[in-house]
Amino acid sequence: MGYFFWNMERDRVFLVGFMGSGKSTIGPLLARRLGWPFLDLDSMIEDSFGGPIHRIFAQQGEPVFRQMESDALRNLGRWKNCVAALGGGAFMDPGNRLQISRLGLSVFLDLSLEGVLERCAPDGTRPLLKDPASARKLYASRLPLYRLSDFEVDASLAPDTIVSAILEKTRLQPSPRHTGIPPDHGR
Ligand code: S3P
Repeated sequence: MGYFFWNMERDRVFLVGFMGSGKSTIGPLLARRLGWPFLDLDSMIEDSFGGPIHRIFAQQGEPVFRQMESDALRNLGRWKNCVAALGGGAFMDPGNRLQISRLGLSVFLDLSLEGVLERCAPDGTRPLLKDPASARKLYASRLPLYRLSDFEVDASLAPDTIVSAILEKTRLQPSPRHTGIPPDHGR
């Protein structure tokens, strides 16, 4: 990586991965180790909408949700030194990927589809996770794009091991010089 690695924007870490890969679990643990705040993009969207994601999908449709997702991502640029969990589809959009690469490092939490299905209960809270067959199709179409992340870690490991692997790979150091993020944006 060398020259390129050290010239990457290192003020923010974006956790990328399929639904159920552990972004919202690992995010706060990583943030604590770094002394940075944790932000959850889906929670930010829910706050601004005033209701859960599945209601946004039902009432406004997926394209409106994707627009809200890109807007929320753009807003993240206002803060430095944060760990952000992205929704599973956020990294699919080329404009979002560009924005993420400008703002910080992306880390793919790599979990098999079997692992995902084990972890995600079909409780209706994830509108795109309807049945195993459609999940398999979506997973296969997304995997090559997740692999465009700057780093990837095995997300089947224990949470503390995953966090250590992220710190080791990114070589990020704790630095508490963040700039006041409202604490209620973490889940
Ligand atoms: C989505 C994943 C969800 C949420 C929305 C769409 C996706 O987030 O953003 O339901 O397209 O994969 P999680 O990955 O946190 O479940």
